[in-house]
Amino acid sequence: MDELVILKLGGSVITKKSDNKREVDRVNLRRLCQEIAEAIDEKRFRLLVVHGAGPFGHVPAQEYGLDKGLRSGKQLKGFSLTRQSMEELNSYVVDALLEAGINAISYQPSAVGVLSGGKLIYFPTKVLAYLLEMDMVPVSYGDVLVDEKTGVGILSGDHLVPYLARKLHASRVIITTDVDGIFDVDPKGGGSSELIKEITQRNMASLSVGKSRGTDVTGGMKRKLDELLRLAGEGINSEVISGVKPGILKRSLLGEKNLGTLIRE
Ligand SMILES: Nc1ncnc2c1ncn2[C@@H]1O[C@H](COP(=O)(O)OP(=O)(O)OP(=O)(O)O)[C@@H](O)[C@H]1O
Ligand SMILES: [Mg+2]
Repeated sequence: MDELVILKLGGSVITKKSDNKREVDRVNLRRLCQEIAEAIDEKRFRLLVVHGAGPFGHVPAQEYGLDKGLRSGKQLKGFSLTRQSMEELNSYVVDALLEAGINAISYQPSAVGVLSGGKLIYFPTKVLAYLLEMDMVPVSYGDVLVDEKTGVGILSGDHLVPYLARKLHASRVIITTDVDGIFDVDPKGGGSSELIKEITQRNMASLSVGKSRGTDVTGGMKRKLDELLRLAGEGINSEVISGVKPGILKRSLLGEKNLGTLIRE
């Protein structure tokens, strides 16, 4: 069977996350969809897309304290609003993929998934497997889910990606974000920083990987890296690349290496 690539479109790339504006970055989104379409034309592979939230998810989730679990009835409105906001962003993403000629189909996490203390413990993938087999491109995303311990919780796209990679036996994972990869210190911190070409458990300790500068209720780059290192330990490598520099995603989908940061065992 053709290799399966799991691709995350970072919320920092497809929305105006750095301005904390609940707005789609249409230029980036359209270009990325075009690059995906071109890569699919040139090479055979199966593709599943997960997108992040940017302000569409992080801002209302924080406003209603959804990352802290359900403590008062007032938060229920926030649960609805955050979910609906993610639905809206997802609809933009699926529309853009369709416009680029990709047979995208949305898969809503909050309708099927269950968290336990923030960890995804139930997320059926049978439909996803069928869709992939028929060469459709499923599109899932970070979302607000019921949590058996805390009532509600946030499913980060960065948590969903490794979960799906494991369950669907992905060949590799590509994570696009608004920086070139993972650096020794936050490249947006103002000081000098160096891109790290490869991260393993061994050099992880020397890095200072932090949170996002924008509102992010799911732990930003640090959480992303922890999840990806665990996945690498299970034999699935991932690459963190720029989603804002034109051409990088297409080259990565076509199999080129050394474009950002490789996370391996
Ligand atoms: N060591 C580091 N290397 C690279 N980026 C870092 C580092 N430490 C912190 N960051 C920050 O992480 C940010 C990317 O993570 P962020 O969670 O904002 O993006 P995202 O995952 O694409 O968005 P979303 O969570 O909405 O999907 C960068 O903009 C950068 O400022
Ligand atoms: Mg993030």
